[in-house]
Amino acid sequence: MKIIKRPAQWDTERKKFRGNSLGFVPTMGALHEGHLSLIRRSLKENDLTCVSIFVNRTQFNDKKDLINYPRPLKKDIVKLRKEKVDFLFLPAFAEIYPDKYRFRILENRKSRLLCGAHRPGHFEGVLTVVMKLLNIINPDRAYFGEKDFQQYMLVKEMTEAFFMKTKIISCPIVRETSGLAASSRNRLLGPKEKPLAPFLYKALKMRKSDEDVKKYLENRGFKVDYVERKWGRRLAAAWLGKVRLIDNVKI
Ligand code: PAF
Repeated sequence: MKIIKRPAQWDTERKKFRGNSLGFVPTMGALHEGHLSLIRRSLKENDLTCVSIFVNRTQFNDKKDLINYPRPLKKDIVKLRKEKVDFLFLPAFAEIYPDKYRFRILENRKSRLLCGAHRPGHFEGVLTVVMKLLNIINPDRAYFGEKDFQQYMLVKEMTEAFFMKTKIISCPIVRETSGLAASSRNRLLGPKEKPLAPFLYKALKMRKSDEDVKKYLENRGFKVDYVERKWGRRLAAAWLGKVRLIDNVKI
């Protein structure tokens, strides 16, 4: 696996591809089974696969969340080598933001709902970095998990709105045996929180009103940001202690 740190270095590599198709999996590291499912799909559907690890600070509305975000880089590299990923793109902040975040992607409707309503500026940061990464990497396909369903939809619609050539592909949520959706933040759950976390998925599947699901979660110690039906899904975000979990199910 080649590790690439600069966009210019990537351009040199990209020129050697000739007719080979390229799949791309953007991540913020702390790789788990959810990421690995995206990576395996990309490896299957493309001649070459590039994974990026970049903890994008512009999408963190909360400084503590950014500081606490797990960064097990060495372990991540071992995992990527084991999967036989071709390239790891590992840029520094200045490589991605030479403009110091003067230029941004703004979406005015869906990014203001759900997670956007509770995390001001979050989707601005996400869409901006995804636009930059897609422009740098220039892949044929890019893979996003359905756990972050709102993110997937916004990214897909952004690429359509700006006539970008990359095809955006969504992959189903991967769950632990308890039902808890795989997430980098799960490793931040303490021993008291971990057994409670699967109730989020359990609650989403209940034949109860959104309001009753919210009460059910609150009775189990969650602080709920939202439980809402939208886009053919029931989606929720809730805190267990200092960890914010999100999940959704098809309805
Ligand atoms: O889903 C994520 O890990 C991030 O939001 C992404 C898409 C890598 C952008 O930083």
